Amino acid sequence: MKVSFHGQSVIYFESKGHKVIVDPFISGNPLSDLDASQLETDYIILTHGHGDHLGDTVKIAQRTGATVIALPEIIDYLSNKHGLENVHPMNIGGNVAFEFGKVKFVQAFHSNSFTEEDGTIVYLGMPTGIVLETEAGTIYHTGDTGLFSDMKLIADRHPVDLCFIPIGDNFTMGIDDASYAINEFIKPKKVVPIHYDTFDYIKQDPEEFKQAVTEAEVNILKPGESVKL
Ligand code: NI
Ligand code: MN
Repeated sequence: MKVSFHGQSVIYFESKGHKVIVDPFISGNPLSDLDASQLETDYIILTHGHGDHLGDTVKIAQRTGATVIALPEIIDYLSNKHGLENVHPMNIGGNVAFEFGKVKFVQAFHSNSFTEEDGTIVYLGMPTGIVLETEAGTIYHTGDTGLFSDMKLIADRHPVDLCFIPIGDNFTMGIDDASYAINEFIKPKKVVPIHYDTFDYIKQDPEEFKQAVTEAEVNILKPGESVKL
């Protein structure tokens, strides 16, 4: 199974014949290689509601009828404000088997809100990471987060084949903490650095991350490239 990366925190894969996208930030993403008006997906899964993660969710869900999976506050916001009906609310610790595989939401240390065009900030509960048990193995998408030692607990409960982890610093972990998380806590078979270079605040050299990681195979992906799971 191939899992592709599309800039910032966007990942895309097909498992058991069903297409899944996580955090579809496409419009306004200077690194994106996708077209939100063409993208085909059956499921959209969100780590949190910040604009660089919620992204084109409404547009894609309205056109494709994809099921949106996220925490209840985000689901209520999308249903009440934008009329999305094909939704599945979950919360941290919950584990649900969907057609493509299992989804479990886990904690992340970050914030979670959406800023409306008029500047109003809508708070949306906890931010999350996501554990995805696909037909080919287990993916841990950490979402936006700082370092926390329960990453070890999460990886103990769900040995990780492929981890997506932010290295951009400023808003999330930087290279030092992300490499520590991989080497000491998560120890996945493969890791892909994400959430860097999209904006000036998060410019980083992923080669430095590659040098610092000793406990996983590091795959640096350009937008549109994929890693084998
Ligand atoms: Ni964020
Ligand atoms: Mn972010």
